[in-house]
Amino acid sequence: MSKTNIDFPDNLLWYKDAIIYELHIKAFRDGNGDGVGDFQGLLEKLDYLQELGVTAIWLLPFYPSPLRDDGYDIADYYTINKSYGDIEQFKILLDEAHRRNLKVITELVINHSSDQHPWFQRARRAPKGSPERDYYVWTDDPTQYKDVRIIFQDFEKSNWTWDNEAQQYYWHRFFHHQPDLNYGNPLVQDEVFRMIDYWCELGVDGFRLDAVPYLFEREGTNGENLPETHAFLKKLRKHVDDHFPGVVFLAEANMWPEDSASYFGNGDECHMNYHFPVMPRLFMSLQMEDRYPITDIFDQTPAIPANCQWAIFLRNHDELTLEMVTDEERDYMYKTYAKDPKAKINLGIRHRLAPLLGNNRKKIELMNSLLFSLPGTPVIYYGDEIGMGDNVYLGDRDGVRTPMQWSPDRNAGFSTANPHKLYLPTILDPEYHYESVNVETQRQNTSSLFWFMKRMITLRKKHKAFGRGDLNFLPVENPKVLAFTRTYADETLLFVINLSKFSQPAHIELTGFSGYVPVEAFSQNSFPIVSENETYFFTLAPHDYQWFVLEKKHTDVIPAFQLPTINVALWGRF
Ligand code: BGC
Repeated sequence: MSKTNIDFPDNLLWYKDAIIYELHIKAFRDGNGDGVGDFQGLLEKLDYLQELGVTAIWLLPFYPSPLRDDGYDIADYYTINKSYGDIEQFKILLDEAHRRNLKVITELVINHSSDQHPWFQRARRAPKGSPERDYYVWTDDPTQYKDVRIIFQDFEKSNWTWDNEAQQYYWHRFFHHQPDLNYGNPLVQDEVFRMIDYWCELGVDGFRLDAVPYLFEREGTNGENLPETHAFLKKLRKHVDDHFPGVVFLAEANMWPEDSASYFGNGDECHMNYHFPVMPRLFMSLQMEDRYPITDIFDQTPAIPANCQWAIFLRNHDELTLEMVTDEERDYMYKTYAKDPKAKINLGIRHRLAPLLGNNRKKIELMNSLLFSLPGTPVIYYGDEIGMGDNVYLGDRDGVRTPMQWSPDRNAGFSTANPHKLYLPTILDPEYHYESVNVETQRQNTSSLFWFMKRMITLRKKHKAFGRGDLNFLPVENPKVLAFTRTYADETLLFVINLSKFSQPAHIELTGFSGYVPVEAFSQNSFPIVSENETYFFTLAPHDYQWFVLEKKHTDVIPAFQLPTINVALWGRF
């Protein structure tokens, strides 16, 4: 999977071995009882994250914002939304997280701002063509850039919106209240460098670069992945490497593998990038009981530079996006995973992991086993570690952003406020009700999903091959079984996964491993030795996943044990 071997000090590669936990401040824990989560609440719950075992937190946008896109509509890039806390509390959070060896990744939403941002208010009043007006992208002709697709198709009809005050149209790739910043203007580029310096100096460990493929526009193109965008990102990266080594860029580039991989550059652009196309194919493979969608997408994935890493995920704060699938695949996904038409939004499905999988514990475990074993750094969405439900009847993507369920108490232990004051209602669906699905209850039951996740995380941290190993799919005659190895240095891990709801046999070719013993990774149980020229046979239970460390059996010749010679004088016999 790796393309080059750039010399890169190992401690700067922390993101390769990371396990990231994604959360929204407002949804995690309300420390002051006003119904909205805050930094004080998150501070109270850092021990929980440490107990779960994750190594990095990705914080969704926490800046001042009209919250018409849940904070991705930023009105000030340098402060904290008052409902969540202030910069002093943010600094304490950084200290406390670092004290627990937790890295903190924040959002850098630089494609667009809110229309309430002073830059936009100034731009619409400034004279046409002035540097202030040109902080954003304007036109008199809304047929410009006509080859650019609309992303939020359920909400927007055009990427241009008329502004009465400016007497021009402005450009936006997302909601009309999120005007795109104009990267053709060097002043805008300077602003981004300033922001990065500010947050790096405070001590953040990384930035998720939101919507990064869309920074520049050029006529006659689809406005995505333009060379200008890559050149700008390389400049940003150089700046960060020179001044804040170890700070990481995590690109959000929802693209096909080839285009996605271009955001790594030659190891001189983004350190990480989500592997968007893998995600829906994990769900497809499970439903089809066929490994092909998974093996095929990895076969299409180019090698990436040695200092880069994919981020993989099952769910996040957005809809399960179906942009990177074919039309037939999308129909299939809708048919199987969006039974309630309310679950569809834009080009995707607004469900959390447990409801998507019919709350089937075996399927939830199997999907997590894929998340934790395939190449890339796993990203867990808050609440999915306890199997939280969702509410598709809330607006937009709010149904997957409801309060974290801590206990069976009022408001799921999220807040002491009057339940009517909560920023969103808690989940009351009987199947996922917070009285049964919550951290407190699951902590007490070592068979719970929470404990399962904890164990998987603990195991992952023991073997570097998870984060750094190569990927090698093994030939298996049964297409319902996926088998692969991950090798790093002298360590090889073997994974055997049954995608079917029925028991399956699997003859696996373990070429090159004769003389090795598969040692079951959780129990340390040794399986029979792999012998030459024979396929290895596994019997797999429904939705089974088996993880092994392949250990070379000690073959040094041990000198045969020799009985001591005793010379006995047989007195008197002769
Ligand atoms: C974020 C979305 C947001 C959009 C516009 C996305 O990539 O993940 O939640 O609505 O950017 O900022």
